[in-house]
Amino acid sequence: MKGLGVTILFTLIFSCINTEKDKLNEVDPAVELANAAAQYHYMMKELDNANSFPKTFNKDMCRLQTSDSEWWCSGFYPGTLFYLYEETGKMELYEEAIRMLGLLEKEQYNVDTHDIGFMMYCSYGNALRIVPKPEYKEVLVNSAKSLITRFNPVVGCLRSHNRKPTDFVVIIDNMMNLELLFWATQATGDSIYWDIAVKHADTTLKNHFRSDGSIYHGINYDPQTGAIQHYQAGQGYTEQSPWSRGQAWGLYGFTMMYRFTQDAKYLDKAVEIAEYLFNHPNMPTDYIPYWDLDAPNIPHALRDASAAAIICSALLELQKYLDAATSVIYVQYAEKILSVLASPEYTAPAGEYGGFVLMHSVGNAPSATERDVSLTYADYYYVEALKRYKELIGSK
Ligand code: GLY
Repeated sequence: MKGLGVTILFTLIFSCINTEKDKLNEVDPAVELANAAAQYHYMMKELDNANSFPKTFNKDMCRLQTSDSEWWCSGFYPGTLFYLYEETGKMELYEEAIRMLGLLEKEQYNVDTHDIGFMMYCSYGNALRIVPKPEYKEVLVNSAKSLITRFNPVVGCLRSHNRKPTDFVVIIDNMMNLELLFWATQATGDSIYWDIAVKHADTTLKNHFRSDGSIYHGINYDPQTGAIQHYQAGQGYTEQSPWSRGQAWGLYGFTMMYRFTQDAKYLDKAVEIAEYLFNHPNMPTDYIPYWDLDAPNIPHALRDASAAAIICSALLELQKYLDAATSVIYVQYAEKILSVLASPEYTAPAGEYGGFVLMHSVGNAPSATERDVSLTYADYYYVEALKRYKELIGSK
């Protein structure tokens, strides 16, 4: 009798675990990617200024808000179209992406932004991966050349913002631009790009982290001496608070550093960032972070779907490099995020929101711009995460 009781108890426990697991596994990435492709097809038609890039959706005016190619996000729309073309084979998406490359091409010579990595690698990088054309390679190499003009060897970093000559501001977001530099060394054999990427990452590793493991958004260095002049709140709530997308860029950036270098210190840092995020007392149970983990008005502060999407995509790469037990946990975090983003709470209704896939991101809360909106980079990293998840479950 006692034995039967124990058996029933174990059966109950395991069925609870399985129910929980089934709930987490409920996202079908192929279905979500097909829905996203349909949305982007709609977005193509909604773009009434054919020479502009979607930026966000203006709910009051019920129309897409757009930018020119210089905006830091210009590469995400073509990048997402390339991903969705790969998933669906729909030529209209591919052709639209190629059309956007034409509008972006001139940015290869843009030396005024560190965001050229986002702009060109998410667009031309994906184009080259799908169809390796020499002209794409040339654009990317020129873009990498433009980016390294911003390197200061005394500081050991690429300059992020353009301010007065006595300021040298570096933001954590800049880690994302290093992928272009690693690619450039692999493509050309010239180690200059790789060496600058490693130096930038090492300086960031040394200076950008607080003792609790969280990441500063910005540091203003003295360009003559490399000394830290002061820290900057940037898009975070305060100078000392953990701006969620900044933590997300760090997680993704240091995971990517490990992919290229196989240096364990970057892997350790990526794991530390993940542990910081998922053990933070203000991380909501659905893992869609508030725009800043110390934002005022928690639990009523705005959530940032873009940070969640970036974290999710990063985790799906990071789990590949970890021991089996940690990997299972990180995949479960990612599955939870995907299941929430794919729900009607975050996924825009078909044929609405100008064709954006996700709602509820925060671009820049302190400047009161892009609060609770759709954003191209939220969609890009969400679609990337769905692709990575589809590959993961397909490989099992
Ligand atoms: N500066 C890039 C971002 O808003 O995350």
